[in-house]
Amino acid sequence: MQRPLIVVSNRGPVGRGSGGLVTALRGLQERDDVVWIASAMTAEDRALAVDPPAGLRLVVHDPRAYDLFYNTIANPFLWFLLNSLWDRAVAPELDDAFHVAWHDGYEEVNRGFAEAVVAELDDRPDALVWFHDYHLFLAPRLVRAARPDATLGHFVHTPWPTDWSALPGALRREVHDGLLANDVVGFHTERWAASFRRSCADVVGDCTACVVHHPISIDPAEFERLADDEAVRAVERELMEERPEKLVVRVDRADPSKNIVRGFHAFGLLLEEHPEWRGRVRLLARLDPSRETIPEYAAYREAIDRAVRELEERHPGSVTVELADDFVRSLAAYRQYDVLFVNPVFDGLNLVAKEGPLLNTRAGVLVLSENAGAHEELAGWVVTINPNDVEGQAQALYEALTMDEGDRRRRAEALAAHVRTHDVARWLEAVLADLNAARA
Ligand code: F6P
Repeated sequence: MQRPLIVVSNRGPVGRGSGGLVTALRGLQERDDVVWIASAMTAEDRALAVDPPAGLRLVVHDPRAYDLFYNTIANPFLWFLLNSLWDRAVAPELDDAFHVAWHDGYEEVNRGFAEAVVAELDDRPDALVWFHDYHLFLAPRLVRAARPDATLGHFVHTPWPTDWSALPGALRREVHDGLLANDVVGFHTERWAASFRRSCADVVGDCTACVVHHPISIDPAEFERLADDEAVRAVERELMEERPEKLVVRVDRADPSKNIVRGFHAFGLLLEEHPEWRGRVRLLARLDPSRETIPEYAAYREAIDRAVRELEERHPGSVTVELADDFVRSLAAYRQYDVLFVNPVFDGLNLVAKEGPLLNTRAGVLVLSENAGAHEELAGWVVTINPNDVEGQAQALYEALTMDEGDRRRRAEALAAHVRTHDVARWLEAVLADLNAARA
């Protein structure tokens, strides 16, 4: 018999569903034995929290605590640590405000989530509790203390770094203890799972949870249906009319982890080194605005603008940047790329690397960072790049643009077939089976 499920994540399936997590888990809402606990992030969410639709529970946090949680700890700190984004000579600098934010923000919001989970468990004592991501590292231990027999799992959708030394010892321990209060901790790749086992050994001496890895995926039928929509086809026709011979596409949240600036530098280098491609290839960068209240993100947006201006000055007409959350345009771009450029500094998985190949119609080539989790699965059919090596990325783009048709077709078909057979339903089944087995 299937046990009820309590899904817990900071961003819930309400309003603007940015990022892969909500997209991937949205299908769960169709099950009538699932309750999703998420933060009320906007005024509309707070109004909805009073009388939410069935299957949803929105946690209303104290606004100051939530601000410290989201804008000081979760995103500019933990996200940067998990994705190894700092220049350690200058950052991070953990001042008194950081410590206040940890206690009054991160701990407080995790406590709010833990209380909501315990309240749900009172209604459904046999439910599986399934936490997601770095926003909630402390909540499992609080739930475990209140409900020692609960079955708890946590899926970490980011990379797991080997070096946790940027976080002071006591807090480093709090994070690891928090996660180890789960029965199962999941990651997208063997690499991140191994790194977690190593850091548990370093920080707490032992790894008491069951650590698993299953790469998340998409719902191919749903993506194919969405891409078949007339609105997508209309944008696609527009793209076809304007496109030069070859189109390089990237689709990302505007996030420092996505390596967007180096991507523009690499594309510029390609045009310097291979002048025969000037005028014949364009880079279309579809960037979804993200976490704009955070200074590190605002600075990165400026760096993106500078890189685009430089590229435009040197090679007019070589780049189109669309800064807008517009899924329809992303779907149309997926269908039309010759090269899909996915070059993150680090990425837990990267769903663009699966969505694109599923929908593409031109036997396009995937140029993929070796630090994207998806690389562990897809390496055999991509052109691999190192995210720091801009010269290497320029060469990889050239290789992708000049690859012969047979090779392109063979790789593109293998990628699409892999995504079709390794879909999100399969991921879900594997993770839930682990959760059930761990407690049994
Ligand atoms: O993919 C990581 C992640 O932090 C998800 O948890 C989140 O849904 C997505 O990025 C978007 O981030 P945010 O919720 O901060 O807009």
